[in-house]
Parts: sequence; C-alpha cells; structure tokens
Amino acid sequence: MDFGDILAIIGIGFWVYVPALLPNTFAPFVGGGTPVDFGKSWKGKRILGDGKTWRGFIGGVLLGGLMIGLAQYGLSELCGSADHWGYGDDIWRAVKIFLVLGTGSLLGDMFGSFIKRRIGIQRGAKAPILDQYDFVFGSFVFLMIFDWSFFYDTYIEGYHWIALVFLLLIIWFLHRGTNIIGYKIGVKDQPW
Ligand code: CTP
Ligand code: MG
Repeated sequence: MDFGDILAIIGIGFWVYVPALLPNTFAPFVGGGTPVDFGKSWKGKRILGDGKTWRGFIGGVLLGGLMIGLAQYGLSELCGSADHWGYGDDIWRAVKIFLVLGTGSLLGDMFGSFIKRRIGIQRGAKAPILDQYDFVFGSFVFLMIFDWSFFYDTYIEGYHWIALVFLLLIIWFLHRGTNIIGYKIGVKDQPW
C-alpha cells in the first residue's frame, strides 16, 4: 500500500459517488410544478415546501443519478477498465447503485427540508450543515441498506475509510461552490 494506492482509493470513492452528488445539481433545472407534499401543511407549516417538486425529484434521479452513472460506466468501458473504475463488471448491479444513490440523495434532501420546515426555516433559507449533508446522509443510508457490500468494499475495508473521510470533506466545498454558481446563473434563489 503506497501513496498511489491511497490516491486510487480516494479517486474511486469519489468517482462512484458522482450519481449521488449530481441529482441536487439537476433538480433546479428540471424542477417545478406539483410539489411533493401537494401543497399540504402539518401543524400550520408546509410538510416540505415548494422547493421540493415531483419533477425535480424524478428528473434529478433519472438525469443526475441514472444518466450520469451510465455515462460514467460507458466511459470506463471505452477505456477498457477491468472493474469499471469501482462500479464492478455487473452492469445491473451498477444500475442499481446509480438509482440507489440518486434516490437516496434526493430523499435525504427532502428529509432536510422536512426538518427545516418543522423548526420554522422558510423554503430556500439557509440551514448550515443540514443543507450540506442531508443528501449525503440519505445516499449513504440508502447505499448501506441496498448494497452493503459495495458500501463496505468502497468506503470501509482496509484503507478505504480514507476515501469516505476525504469525500465528506470535499462535499462541503463542492456544495458551496455549485450553489454559488447556481445562484449566479439564476437557477437558485440563494447562494446556499
Ligand atoms: N428542486 C425541486 N425538487 C426537488 C429538489 C429541488 O424542484 N426534489 C428544485 C427547486 O426549484 C428548488 C431548487 O431545486 O428551489 C433548489 O433545491 P434546494 O436548495 O434543495 O431547495 P430550496 O428551494 O432551498 O428549499 P428548502 O429550503 O426546502 O431546501
Ligand atoms: Mg436550498
């Protein structure tokens, strides 16, 4: 195990997590229309709010999770990678992982909004930590439930925990960066 091996572990851990990172980036582009909570409130506050829509959810999973994952898989195939850069050789297992990561990510994001509404934070208003990690929580819980051995092999086993630590750190910076870009190009109301 040398420095190059550790870098490869970190790289793979990040690469296979891309289908969990991008659904949130796609959602503002495809979102709109009927809210997931159908406009309903609970104890005087919206269940989720107008920032969580069916189009954003389904479009985000299909584009940011499935489509991106398939593109990554195809690229690794073109490059002749034996284990498809961490996804493994079974394409159906890989497809399952794309959908699990994408769905978990956006359900985690909705769970974050649910918490925000309960504690009285308005749609779009800032909630540090929660805004950065709600989707991480959702996607990892989903991955642990639906493919524990993939999670274990990629993020725990041997030195692979380093990939997990690195990923959690880089996500904070990435999330801030993409939200600032989204705000500047006008698809997000606030830069967070
Ligand atoms: N979006 C969507 N459906 C989702 C998630 C996001 O339509 N399931 C779109 C909405 O247009 C939303 C934008 O993506 O405004 C940005 O997402 P996010 O920052 O998560 O939502 P907020 O508007 O900030 O709402 P909240 O306070 O509930 O997080
Ligand atoms: Mg927000």
